[in-house]
Amino acid sequence: MLPTPIINDIDYDRVYEPSEDSFLLLDCFEQEQGTLQSKLKGKLPIITEIGTGSGIVTTFILQNILQNGVYMTTDINPHACNQVLQTLKANGQNNKVDSLQMDLTGAIRSNLIDILIFNPPYVPAEEVPDIPDSNDDPTWLDVALLGGEDGMKITWKVLRNLDKILSSDGIAYILFCARNKPESIQEYMQSSGWKVDIILTRKAGWEVLSILKFYR
Ligand SMILES: C[S@@+](CC[C@H](N)C(=O)[O-])C[C@H]1O[C@@H](n2cnc3c(N)ncnc32)[C@H](O)[C@@H]1O
Repeated sequence: MLPTPIINDIDYDRVYEPSEDSFLLLDCFEQEQGTLQSKLKGKLPIITEIGTGSGIVTTFILQNILQNGVYMTTDINPHACNQVLQTLKANGQNNKVDSLQMDLTGAIRSNLIDILIFNPPYVPAEEVPDIPDSNDDPTWLDVALLGGEDGMKITWKVLRNLDKILSSDGIAYILFCARNKPESIQEYMQSSGWKVDIILTRKAGWEVLSILKFYR
C-alpha cells in the first residue's frame, strides 16, 4: 500500500477535510499506477486537479504515481489554494505545483491537460451556492459540497467542456455519488464518443461513490 500524505494544521472550517471520497481517489490512482506510468513513459504530462481542497490527492499522485509532470492545480477557494502548497511542503514536495485560484480549468489553455482529476461538489441541493466575496466568509465549505440539481451542476460544466479541456490523448478521473446517476452519465458520454470505464465503486456510509475514467 502506498503511503498517504501527511496532512496537518488545516483549518477545516474553510477547507474540505479529506474524507471517503478523497481516499477513494487515492485508491483509484494506486490501481491506475501501472497503466499511467506505462502510458506516460518518456513524456512530461500536464496534470491538473480541479478543487484541490487540502491537497491530499495531488500530493499523493506527485509523491507516488507521477513524479515527472507539470502540475497546475485549481480551486475556487483561496484557502484551499494556499493549503495545497502547505501540504506539498509538509510532504517534501515544495515548489513543484502551480496552485491557481480559478473557476474549474478557467484560463488554462485549451487541449493542454493530459491528466485531469476532479472530486467535485456532488451533493444534490436546491442550488449551487454563490461564490463568497470575501476570504472570511463562512460558506466556503458549502461551495466544496453542494452541486445543485442532481449534484451535477458543476460536474456537467466540466463534462460538456471535456473535449476542449483534455489533450488529444488526455484522461479525466471524476468522482460521482449514486445520486449523480453515474450510469446515465456513462451512457451519455459514450454516446458522445467518449470511452468511459468505472474504475472503483465503494459504499461510504449511506453514499455509494464511484470514479469514472473518461478518454477518447
Ligand atoms: C469535495 S471537495 C474535494 C477536495 C479534495 N480534492 C479532496 O478530494 O479531498 C471539492 C473542492 O472543489 C472546490 N470547488 C468547488 N467549486 C469549484 C469550482 N467552480 N472551481 C474550482 N474549484 C471548485 C472546492 O473549493 C473544494 O475544495
